[in-house]
This record gives sequence, C-alpha cells and structure tokens, in this order.
Amino acid sequence: MNELKGRKLVLGVTGGVAAYKAAELVRLLGKAGADVHVVLTEGGARFVTAVTFQALSGNPVWTDLWDPRMANNMAHIDLTRDADAILVAPATADVMAKLANGLADDLLTTLCLARECPLLVAPAMNRQMWESPATRRNAAQLLVDGVELLGPGAGEQACGEVGLGRMLEPEALCEAMIAFFQPKLLAGRRIVMTAGPTFEAIDPVRGITNSSSGKMAYGLARACAQAGAEVTLVSGPVSLPVPAGVERVGVRSALEMRDAVFAALPGADVFIGVAAVADYRPVNSAEHKIKKSGAELSLTLTPNPDILAEVASLPQPPFCVGFAAESRNLDEYAEGKRKAKKLPLIVGNLVQDGLGGDDNQVVLFDDQGRHPLPKAPKPDVARAIVAHLATLLPAF
Ligand code: PMT
Repeated sequence: MNELKGRKLVLGVTGGVAAYKAAELVRLLGKAGADVHVVLTEGGARFVTAVTFQALSGNPVWTDLWDPRMANNMAHIDLTRDADAILVAPATADVMAKLANGLADDLLTTLCLARECPLLVAPAMNRQMWESPATRRNAAQLLVDGVELLGPGAGEQACGEVGLGRMLEPEALCEAMIAFFQPKLLAGRRIVMTAGPTFEAIDPVRGITNSSSGKMAYGLARACAQAGAEVTLVSGPVSLPVPAGVERVGVRSALEMRDAVFAALPGADVFIGVAAVADYRPVNSAEHKIKKSGAELSLTLTPNPDILAEVASLPQPPFCVGFAAESRNLDEYAEGKRKAKKLPLIVGNLVQDGLGGDDNQVVLFDDQGRHPLPKAPKPDVARAIVAHLATLLPAF
C-alpha cells in the first residue's frame, strides 16, 4: 500500500547504535511510497555508510553543509523546501540538545533550524541519558516548540542495561509517519468497536464460529486511531497485530463480547459493530470432550443477545454504526437492518466481497441514501468509512 505516496521526507540519521535500524526504516518508508532523502551526521556515518542509505533510498545522501552538489550551495535550505517533514531517527541526546537550543553546527541541525515543515524526533540513548535532567528539559522544550517525539521505547539497550531510551522499531516509526499525515477527522472522539468472529463452545475443544478474519475491523480501528480517535477494540479470536494506539480487549463468545462492550461503553461517542457475532450458541456447553459414538447427536441452540441493537436502544446511545454481511439483496437487507436497529449508519457488504479477504466493496447507507464505495484494500475502505462517519457526527 502506498500510504506515503507523494510525500518527500528528509531522514536525519545521527550517531547512535540504532543507526543500523534507520536503514530498514528507509526501506519501509520507500515501500510505503515516500521519497526519502537521508542526511547523515558525522556520528551517524561512523555506524552506517552513506552508500547503504543511497542504495536503499535511491537518492543522494547528504552529510556536508558545504556540499558542492547543491546547485546554489544552499543545501541547508534547498533540501527541506519542498519536504513534507523531517524525521530524525535515531536522535541522540546530543542532537536533541542542539535542536532544543537552536544550535546549527552541521547540515542536519542547520536544516532543522531553517525548516518550514514539521519536525519529528525518535530519541535513542542509554536510559540514564534519557532520564537526565538535561535531556528531560530538552525533550520538554522540543514539545513546547511543536516538535513531535516518537518514543523512545523501553527494553534492553545496546549497553546491556534495561529501561527507557530504545529507538522505536522501524515498523512502528513508519506507522507513526503514516499516522502523522492523516487528517485528524476524529480528534477528541472515543470509539468502541467489535471485531472478528465469536466462538461459541460446544465442549472444551469444539465450537461454532465463522470465517471472519478481523481484517476489516482492525483496518477500521487503525484508521480511526490515525484520525485521532481513542479506540477500544473488543475482539473475538483472530491473530492480527493490534494497531498502534488501539486498546484491544480479547474475548471469545458473544456473551463475553457483550460484557466487554458494556464495560468499555461509558463515555464513548461512537460504537461500531464490525464483528460477525454468532446469532446462536449451544444451550449447554459440555464440561468434558464429547465422546464419539455411532448415535446421532443433536445440538440445541439459543439466541445470543444482539449487542448492536442493545447499544443502539440505550436511552442516550452513542452514534451507532452497524455492518451488514449479506449473500444477496444487499440494499434491501442492509437498509432493513439499519431501520430495525435504528442506526444512523450501516456499512453493507456481500460476504463474497468482504469476508476473509484483503479487499472489500461496501455501500454505506444513512438517512441521505446509499453511498457506494469502490472495491479497494480494506485499509483504504476503512479510511473512506472514517471520512464519511466524520461528516455525520454531531459537532462537540
Ligand atoms: O473480518 P473480515 O474477514 O475482514 O470480514 C469483514 C466482515 C464481512 C465480517 C465485516 O465487513 C462485516 O460485514 N461485519 C458484520 C457481519 C455480521 O455479522 O453482520 P450481521 O448482518 O449478522 O449483523 C448486523 C450487525 O449487528 C453487525 O454490525 C453485527 O456486528 C451486529 N450484531 C449481530 C449479531 C449480534 N448478536 N450482535 C451484534 O452486535
């Protein structure tokens, strides 16, 4: 997916052991469509050579304030004039101190001082350096100056100590850059969402479930979080990574899902039911594994509560969004469910389009009518749903 297509990024690499991870970061940013221009400090070049970054970014690497390759010898200005952001990763304690105090004694710090674009910084240093009063002051000053700090994370460090100060992993930094450029259409909103299938136990090893992969819900949770919302994802059993900034509550059955939803609901502005909740569960779940015999076996099922319908019929419900998975008559059935559950918005999809796969084709139904969206990868469909949802939410 080209989520950074058309973005020009200047990546500053300074002298920390984590500089080796910056090589992978360049690869990931490039894979996401970004045009990456690396600026290497003298310290950074001691860990990874310019040749590596040039090969991975496909662009010249810059190290010298007086580089004659720059047409007018103004590298400190020209490099960022049409950049969408500067990211310094890894950022040593030394470079943070320089940035916080407006020092400009090499190409990277001069570029940062002369920039017109946003600056993001991914600290990487020993835990004591991170916790030192000087670095705390510098980090606080950078925040006041509008610089975005990405991390640091906690864990084992190159020096063998354990604590805060590790640079975030390249995947997390790439995700953070993608999130940074998303319009904050849902800033200040709290969203509770359901995801995946439920599993209704027949005995300790068997159960009733369905083939929902959770991809649509996890994509939507990621899109909502990247749009600035606080997201709680009540998820049935799926094995997908939890999107950055999303709180996941794991459940198995519809009854557990219902309890977790109602526990998370106070204060929520929006509830989105993406889960393929089992409509029925066995009346009795056997304590021990049911033994095979030659005789017929009947299973008696009882209806599960309809979580979405219950939430939507609260005296003061959040803004409720349903999903409708149909195998035919999409418009009629989806709109019928929207009316029956009194939902302002429902997302209809045919199971053959959306269940299990990476793409989906959906139609949004609201009081204004039907709004078909083109078939696209689920993360793209999720962003389009977010954009539509944002237009329907009441102002604060
Ligand atoms: O997980 P994927 O593989 O990515 O597939 C995505 C999807 C097809 C599962 C998703 O796009 C989707 O359509 N989810 C809803 C599936 C569904 O169960 O639809 P439904 O028509 O049975 O239910 C209507 C709505 O009521 C849904 O919002 C559902 O979450 C909710 N519901 C249903 C039953 C129930 N007991 N409680 C509920 O809250």
